[in-house]
Amino acid sequence: MSESEAGDRWPVGERRAGERRAQAERRKAAAAASTEAERRQGTRRTSDRRDDRAWQPVLIETAVLDGFSPEDGILAAARAAREFAQAHYSKFKVGAALETVEGVIVSGCNIENATYGLTLCAERVALVKALSEGHTVFTRIAVVADTKAPTPPCGPCRQLLWEYCGDVEILLGNLKSLTGRYRLSSLLPLPFDRRLL
Ligand code: THU
Repeated sequence: MSESEAGDRWPVGERRAGERRAQAERRKAAAAASTEAERRQGTRRTSDRRDDRAWQPVLIETAVLDGFSPEDGILAAARAAREFAQAHYSKFKVGAALETVEGVIVSGCNIENATYGLTLCAERVALVKALSEGHTVFTRIAVVADTKAPTPPCGPCRQLLWEYCGDVEILLGNLKSLTGRYRLSSLLPLPFDRRLL
């Protein structure tokens, strides 16, 4: 039996549905392959920062060698920046450190003011500093506060980080240790971004 005869055994509607399903599967496999390669590289396309797994938390494992773990440096930078926090009103000092794909670390601290509402979070300060210095591709951000529980980025910071950093790794820590590790996509599921404009 020829292929076209076999195809003729199915009603046209079902054949089309089958083709559509196969096409969707191929698209999904291609998307997964490209995003996996980008994830390994630590960078994402600026035009498309979401992928099929954007709604699932991603557990990231790292090695600890001779008591030194790969996040020590970036956490130390966030702790150092926290010392400069201008948190006169909340007394809640936060430090952040953003790592570029070239390995440069740009830090920031929260800056409050008497109108309260104009407060700048540590993450946003680090981000605008980095962008204004010409950095455009980021791999990780560390956020440190003097709390036992992790201090995650607030909603507006998540939005801005998504826009400019993509699905970066987010390290949360306190003055002593790492307290949490997330992908931004797991903290900001179903984001609004330029692809929807
Ligand atoms: N804050 C940050 O800087 N980053 C966060 O992730 C959470 C909150 C600051 C804003 C404000 O100055 C103080 O913490 C209390 O909300």
